Parts: sequence; C-alpha cells; structure tokens
Amino acid sequence: MDKLLLIDDEADVQYSFRRIFDSPDLELHTASSGEEGLRLISKLKPDLVISDIRMAGINGLETLRRIRQLDPKLLVILMTAYGTTQMAIEAMKLGAYDYQLKPFDVPKLKALVANALKAARDMRQAVSLQPLIEAEDQEVGVVGRSDVMQSVFKLIGQVAASEATVLVTGESGTGKELVARSIYHYSRRAERPFLAINCAAIPDNLLESELFGHEKGAFTGATQQRIGKFEQCNGGTLFLDEIGDMSPATQTKMLRVLQSGTFERVGGNETIKVDVRVIAATNRNLESAVAQKQFREDLFYRLNVVRIQMPTLRERHGDIRLLVDYFLRKLAGPGGKPKSIGSATLSALENYHWPGNVRELENALRRATVVAKGLAILPADLPTEVAAGISSQPSAGRNEPPPSASPRTAALEDVSGPPLDFQGLAQALFRLARADAKLKVIPAVERLLVIEALRETKGNQVQSAKLLGITRATLRKRIEKFGIKQELAVN
Ligand SMILES: Nc1ncnc2c1ncn2[C@@H]1O[C@H](COP(=O)(O)OP(=O)(O)OP(=O)(O)O)[C@@H](O)[C@H]1O
Ligand SMILES: [Mg+2]
Repeated sequence: MDKLLLIDDEADVQYSFRRIFDSPDLELHTASSGEEGLRLISKLKPDLVISDIRMAGINGLETLRRIRQLDPKLLVILMTAYGTTQMAIEAMKLGAYDYQLKPFDVPKLKALVANALKAARDMRQAVSLQPLIEAEDQEVGVVGRSDVMQSVFKLIGQVAASEATVLVTGESGTGKELVARSIYHYSRRAERPFLAINCAAIPDNLLESELFGHEKGAFTGATQQRIGKFEQCNGGTLFLDEIGDMSPATQTKMLRVLQSGTFERVGGNETIKVDVRVIAATNRNLESAVAQKQFREDLFYRLNVVRIQMPTLRERHGDIRLLVDYFLRKLAGPGGKPKSIGSATLSALENYHWPGNVRELENALRRATVVAKGLAILPADLPTEVAAGISSQPSAGRNEPPPSASPRTAALEDVSGPPLDFQGLAQALFRLARADAKLKVIPAVERLLVIEALRETKGNQVQSAKLLGITRATLRKRIEKFGIKQELAVN
C-alpha cells in the first residue's frame, strides 16, 4: 500500500485530502507543521510527501531542504497559492518532484499524485538479477538463465559500477525499461533519484522544455519559468525512453549535456551545470535512423558508449518456462496459489514466436489466469494464435496480443476470393516456419481450425465436423492427433 503524507496547517486542506484520497490502496497521514512532518517522515517512511509552502514555523522550502538531508530520494510535491509560484520554482531547483497551485484542481491533483506514486514505486522497487524464489512485493526480477540473458546480466553488472551512459536497444517488450531500472538499482546512484521520461509520449515542441526547462516568456504560453528534468534530477539517474523519437533541436541539446553536463533553459542565458547519469532506450534501429539522417550521428556515438542489446524472446527459448513460472506466481499475488500449467499448454507457449516478446507473454498469461475455469491453465485459455503454436500477425499492435478474430475469418472464408490479409497471413506463416514450412504450418493451422470449431460449438463434435467440412471420424482422429480432446472436454 502506498503511503502519502500531507503537511499543511489548514484543517480545510487536510479535510479535502481525506475526501479526495479516500482509497483502500492509499494510506494518508497528515501533519500540521514542517517539524511534525519531518518527525512523521522518519517514523512512517512515506512514499510521497505533499507540503504547503507557507506555514507557521519552518516553511515548506525549509522542510524540503531538511527532507533532502533525511532522504534524497523521497518525492515531494509543494503546494502554493497563485502569485507565489517563484517559491515553487525555488522548490523545483531544490529537487521537488513538482508543485501544485492552490486552490487545486482535483482531477489534476489526483493524476499528479498517481504519477508521483508510480515514480516512487519505480525507485523503491529493487530489480533483482538473482533467481527469485518468492516473488516479493518489493522486488521485481529480471528472469533468465539463457546464455544471451547471462551476457545481459554481466553487462548490467559492469556498467552499474561505472558512470557511463548506457543505450538499451531491442524490440518492444524485451525488458529494456526493466534493465534500465536494474542498472540504477545496482549503481552508486541507487540512493539518489531516478526519473523516467518517455520521449515519444511528449509532443516535440514540449520535450525540450520538459528536459531542460524554460524561462518565463520563452515561447507563447510560457507564463512561468519552468525547471526541467535534468535540473530536477541533479545527482540522480535519468531514463530517457524512446530516445529515437527526439527532434533534431532536442538532439543537439542532448549531445551537449552528455558531453559537458551543461545546458541553458529554453529562452534562457544562464548556463546550468548538472551531474546526471543518462540511461537511454529505444526500439528503433538507431543505426538506420542515422543513415537516414533522422538521428544525429555524434549523439548516437555518445549514447552508444555502452550498448545493451536485448535479445528477443525467440532467442531465449529456454527462458520461457522460467518466465511462465515467475509470472504465474506474480499474478497469483502474495499468498495466492498460482495456476498450474500442463505440458500441452507449456509447449504451445514454447512454440509460439512472441512478436511482442516478454510483455506479450505476460499479457497472455494474465488473460489466461482470468479465463481459466479451474486450477490449471489449458491451451484453450491462451490466445488462439498461441494455442496453435503459430502467429497470425507478427506485426500486430505493440502491447496487446494480436486479435484472434482475423485468422479465423481469413482461414475459413472461400479461398477463391481471399480477404485482403490472407496473403499477409501466408507470408507470416512462411517466415515463421522457414525451411519446413509445409510440414509445420499445415498441421498447426489444422489444429487451430479444429480448436476454433470446438470452441465455437462448445465442444460439440457433430457441429464442429460440419463446420470444418470433414467427417466426424476424421475430426476424432485430428482431436486425438493434436491432443485437443482433454483441453476442451474440461470446458
Ligand atoms: N527478463 C524478464 N523477467 C521478468 N519480467 C520481464 C523480463 N523482461 C521483461 N519483463 C516484463 O515484461 C514487461 C515489459 O518489459 P519492459 O517494459 O521493460 O519492456 P520494453 O523493452 O521497455 O518495451 P517497450 O519497447 O514496449 O517499451 C514488463 O512488465 C517487465 O516487467
Ligand atoms: Mg519501454
């Protein structure tokens, strides 16, 4: 459960917070002065502090200064009334996470708190490279025993001890962010802040000011000075996700901050020096972005000092079993009984080619745990393309397993007038199976069709045979051959 500490001497504000943050996932504590707040911080170890600036006794800024001495990582949001934002900007320079104007806009405040709590969790949650026996709430693991993952672990160990900039590359869902966080946790900066920023999620024109800040009047809409992430994260580690999506102007500024640790805020003259370790990640091919002049070559070399290339899940076949075990325990929650998994299900998982990598595997298991009716996960509980051990759409959406509807309609429709994606499907299947395409694909597709027919008819073999255009005897043979019977009989 997350712990939030509010420091404010106004009873009204304390009351509003109790109403706004009345949630079973959140423990709210309140203090009426900076002094009391500091005592409570030592005692309660909150995940996030929200403090008013103007208070009797020590004010919010001084409270923040003392919090920084107690715990450099603790996230603090300062609250201030309109007209006194200069104080809030001072607070940002002292490393406040953000500030909130009073009277506050409730949805904005809630979103800010949710983001801050997520950032706090990222910092707090140790990322372990040791094999995990029990999935602890406070720890996440980078699971893997394959040779390729062992090389990744070795590199993490080597770079964690250094201050080098690291570039983590690899397909979507291969664990780039997890690796970035583990480098942070094993580094000398583990006691300092870690902030993450997704360059692709922020519009081009705003990213520069998000990273480096801006001066008042720097551009239309810049009504206040703003402190950027580099300044805010001084002494800590900044994770720049999707760095391949950065605009040329921001790339130029990035290069300079990496080379000299200096920059100016947008529209400002003052040169600011910071000490920030950068870990960058991207799923784009930066070499070809450089070749196409979309990414600065000098910045690429500066980022590429240490490169960790994440293997796809297809390249660490042997790890699937370990990952399945890990995710099932994680999904069961602390004290919960993990779902079991039989050999047919495991082999379906092992045979699939996972275009969305570890994230897709995790999502498939999350879905299966919900869908599974009994204690065990059966192949029928998996997404159709996984159950068949083949993929229908290798280039489908990044985060979700590909929708299962299209291969079925494509495969069952009249072949003389195939729907548009029929050829794409054939190409994908061919790529997958390569040398012995026919030998692998035909039975896999047949198995998929039989499973689908049985699922659609809720296991009715007469109807299924009719749907498939085969005799019931042939259907029975196929069911036996593909070992399907057991799976669907339970449903
Ligand atoms: N080796 C691993 N062991 C355990 N969990 C993993 C492993 N690799 C990835 N995960 C989990 O898979 C999910 C995706 O990982 P992550 O977000 O790090 O991927 P990514 O490479 O950053 O993906 P994207 O490019 O889409 O941002 C996360 O929930 C992460 O915890
Ligand atoms: Mg990521």
